[in-house]
Amino acid sequence: MEDKKVVIITGAAMGIGKAAVDRFGRAGWQIAAVDWNGEALAATEAEMTGKGYAVDAYVLNVADYDACAAMVADVEAKYGRIDGLYNNAGILGDRDGILGFDHETVKDAFEVNVFGSLNLIQLVARVMDRLGIQGAIVNTTSINAEVGTWDPIGYIGSKGAMKAITQGAAFHLGAQGIRVNAVSPGATITPMAASVYDVPPAREAVALNHNRHRWITPEEVANAAFWLISDEASGVNGIVVAVDDGYATGKGADLLGIFEEWESEHPQA
Ligand SMILES: NC(=O)c1ccc[n+]([C@@H]2O[C@H](COP(=O)([O-])OP(=O)(O)OC[C@H]3O[C@@H](n4cnc5c(N)ncnc54)[C@H](O)[C@@H]3O)[C@@H](O)[C@H]2O)c1
Repeated sequence: MEDKKVVIITGAAMGIGKAAVDRFGRAGWQIAAVDWNGEALAATEAEMTGKGYAVDAYVLNVADYDACAAMVADVEAKYGRIDGLYNNAGILGDRDGILGFDHETVKDAFEVNVFGSLNLIQLVARVMDRLGIQGAIVNTTSINAEVGTWDPIGYIGSKGAMKAITQGAAFHLGAQGIRVNAVSPGATITPMAASVYDVPPAREAVALNHNRHRWITPEEVANAAFWLISDEASGVNGIVVAVDDGYATGKGADLLGIFEEWESEHPQA
């Protein structure tokens, strides 16, 4: 029997990352589940192994290069291969706009969202390159790298950086056959978004940005990341897959609906 394929998923304890552990587990992958929240990660590991999935938990901060290096070395030593990396861990930071931002919170967002992802892109790509594995990496951007949003300015900057890094890394690793893509979730129902989702008028306002006036589920994002890492996407490289129900296509006025209503109210017009 062929060895199980091996994937590293960061931010695996909850939200989109947890949904990804479930998706890869269902497909029979060996999963290294990474998170800095040890308690939540242990609960996710127990739940997923209870379903019969092959999950090893690693408690670490992705912004810590040495901790990432030790984890990657351990995964390689245990399984002899790494086929996929899903850089999903991220932090939102404080609600800072341009007029009020604090340098430290902007730096924190870049430390985790950008340097955390870069650490693992380098470490995992080195293993894939050395072992001759044509693997795949998926990073995480956001709707705010496509259109202006209210998100904290450090978070926005970090996600814009990840869009450019995804394209650049795809180019740098192209010759090795290592694919690098990203997912760009719209507003997704996770603990990160709870402070918005739990306030009904905010939840409604955000829903209206999506074509079907609803939020995205963690499973929808996890499905896209799974597809991008799987061989089904073997020809896909250097792109950002928007999982945002059309949010990034813009929100022009619904003129067809307006015409319809106008014409029904003004039949002779
Ligand atoms: N939820 C949304 O609306 C939304 C929208 C666009 C993009 N995203 C992005 O999707 C990804 C997942 O978001 P989510 O909503 O599931 O978030 P979440 O906060 O619900 O879960 C994130 C997980 O990552 C872990 N984590 C955070 N920083 C870490 C670090 N330095 N090291 C290790 N683990 C760390 C957390 O402990 C948590 O388990 C993030 O990159 C986020 O920016 C989310």
